[in-house]
Amino acid sequence: MQKPWFHLGTEIDKAIVEIATTLPEFAEGDFKAEVRPADPRFGDFQANGVLPYAKQLKTNPRTLGEILLAAIQASGRFPKGEYQIELAGPGFINFKLTPTALLNWFKAYRTEDDLSEAAKDTYAGKTIVVDFSSPNTAKQMHVGHIRSTVIGEALSRLLEFCGAKVVRDNHIGDWGTQFGILIRQIKKENIDLDSLGAEAVPTLERLYKEGSNETRGSETALQEARDELVLLQNGDDTNTRIWEKTTEVSWKSFQKVYDQLGIHFDEVLGESFYRDKVERVYQELSEARIAEESQGALVVFHPEHPRFKTQPMMLRKSDGASNYATTDMATALHRVEHFGADAFIILTDARQRDHFEQIFLTFKKWMQHSGKPLPEMKHIYFGSIQGEDGKAIKTRSGEPVLLGNLFDEGIERARNIVQDKNPDLPQEEKDQIAEVVGIEAIRYADLSQNRTSDYKFQWDKLLSFEGNTAPYLLYAIARIRSIFRKLDLDPGSIQAEADATPFVTETEIALARKLLGFVNTLDLTLADMRPHVLCNYLFELSGAFSSFYNADKVMVDQPDIQARRLLLCARTLTILETGCHLLGMRTLERM
Ligand code: ARG
Repeated sequence: MQKPWFHLGTEIDKAIVEIATTLPEFAEGDFKAEVRPADPRFGDFQANGVLPYAKQLKTNPRTLGEILLAAIQASGRFPKGEYQIELAGPGFINFKLTPTALLNWFKAYRTEDDLSEAAKDTYAGKTIVVDFSSPNTAKQMHVGHIRSTVIGEALSRLLEFCGAKVVRDNHIGDWGTQFGILIRQIKKENIDLDSLGAEAVPTLERLYKEGSNETRGSETALQEARDELVLLQNGDDTNTRIWEKTTEVSWKSFQKVYDQLGIHFDEVLGESFYRDKVERVYQELSEARIAEESQGALVVFHPEHPRFKTQPMMLRKSDGASNYATTDMATALHRVEHFGADAFIILTDARQRDHFEQIFLTFKKWMQHSGKPLPEMKHIYFGSIQGEDGKAIKTRSGEPVLLGNLFDEGIERARNIVQDKNPDLPQEEKDQIAEVVGIEAIRYADLSQNRTSDYKFQWDKLLSFEGNTAPYLLYAIARIRSIFRKLDLDPGSIQAEADATPFVTETEIALARKLLGFVNTLDLTLADMRPHVLCNYLFELSGAFSSFYNADKVMVDQPDIQARRLLLCARTLTILETGCHLLGMRTLERM
């Protein structure tokens, strides 16, 4: 049996177009069905295409709608037992799935894998590079890195679930003029980074600060730093070793954060990886006349752009040095040539919007000139995180809040809450719950915000068991798990659901329809790469489950009613867990 695909409306859309082609009234012009998920008050899907079509033909949309509706009903493709179809307003056609159709869907899509199958559409088979997190070496990760890191991981998982082959690439900032200052300082203080353990990166931060002060104050110091940089750029052994060490100790400290978040990268191709690939950028862009010389520098103007016609992107400085833009051009090319990327997305804060607009414009011209396929390119940017006072989040001494410290505080606070709520759990389990709740609450607080807005970081809010928070969702999941534990049943067991009859009560039907919306939600989430769309959905789904669970008793005498209610519990669990996992979250058995 072919599985129903109506969760996206695509099946319905296709059928309507086919039916319309048999009608003389729809033979002229260009008819599109335009099936969209509908306002739930009116149905599950709505075909909006009659209106614009009637406009083309300058006829009455309502009459056309009636003709189409009659043909839809006569076609036999929408059995009465599964669809309730109505004409509404000036010519919309509403489709409501009957409880039988809903039940059939739930029987076809039971597990996380089934749902992934259902979600494979636009992205199936595409290779997509996701460039995220990307901190700079010789520094500790701070709160400013959280958005790129957690949004990047969530989008990677969502794309994978929808069938894409994802390459997670951490484009670390591991090359640049700062290494002149740093190497000078390391040599001066005779520092052995290996011996410093967890103190290595904080030491690098201190050395860089001191070094910058010195080079600002002294022409000799500045020249020494420059000389160290030239040595490094020319492959000098000692300096290369020092530089490699800084990357190594930095990566170790990043790795701690990534482990806590459960994030792994397929590639760590930082800026240094591209240092021997910039010549080709200069050469090909100059030959193509996309880049031009200006006062000894190599720059790119975009005459068709209101700002970039006068504000150039610098590719090579007059002293011959490459920069961030040069490596990003080489990076784009590598993604096409080496990974065969159909698309790449890059996550950074909104301050880099101009940079990537210029990169993408330039890369497009480059690919057009060389006759290569152009990948889809997206800069996924986000707003900033503010402290409780609404200002940029900082420690009391004005330093950036370190991610490690933020996670520790989250876990500590969660520990107190767990202790309060569930003092009798074994200590080991309490610790594990605290770790999950603490970190996932921070992650979810970020993901549940529209990424382009700024948001306020508020401990009480993000750790609350009420509202759109991780604790609320994790608790909803644990609660459903406990229902099955008490019954000694495996959630989703085919046997327990065998007798299920179509849904009857208002709360059953509302929950069933909400569940059906999951696949479409993934589509909407990825359409504009905004994880908060999925968060909102999961929050609403938990609400629909609560209403159902409060109104409809699950364990009842009639086996068919009990079976269908257990089915709803099991599917809610699967979809809540799948949704959380797609956001990168861990979930819990008990809380
Ligand atoms: N390291 C950069 C920063 O800290 C982010 C890199 C983003 N990726 C890229 N391909 N430019 O701002």
